[in-house]
Amino acid sequence: MKKVLFVCLGNICRSPLAEALFKKHVEARGLQDEFMADSCGTATYHIGHQPDARSRANAKTNGLIYSHQGRQITQQDFTSFHIIIPMDTSNKSDLEKINQNEDATIRLMRDYDRGFEGTDVPDPYFGGERGFQEVFEMLDRATAYLLDELTGNL
Ligand code: 4NP
Repeated sequence: MKKVLFVCLGNICRSPLAEALFKKHVEARGLQDEFMADSCGTATYHIGHQPDARSRANAKTNGLIYSHQGRQITQQDFTSFHIIIPMDTSNKSDLEKINQNEDATIRLMRDYDRGFEGTDVPDPYFGGERGFQEVFEMLDRATAYLLDELTGNL
């Protein structure tokens, strides 16, 4: 069982959506017994909260219904997850600062989004509807590529 953890700042917009889309691809490929996914935030603002209502409404228009309870990263996450996927470079440097496990694998979400390696999944929190749809499409694609890579199907 491979364990994948998606991380953003608040754990209400980008990372819970990445988690839900990754799980959608896992189920579509019948790989539920091989992968486990979760998400969390680096910040404390939204502990216990459901994903942002605008994110969920946009996802619903794309046929995806999901929920998640916001939580903050813990030191144990760095040892219990095989791969940790921050949404942007700021999330990545925050994780690298607190991580105490030198064996942890931390890689940017868009390092898997072919042609966009090294770039950020933009934070849609302060933007409009277009931002949520762009983030949805980006994460739908990047999580499928991530699963390709994890299954050796390139
Ligand atoms: P996320 O977006 O990191 O994609 O969940 C944010 C959500 C909330 C805040 C910032 C970013 N906030 O400042 O409350």
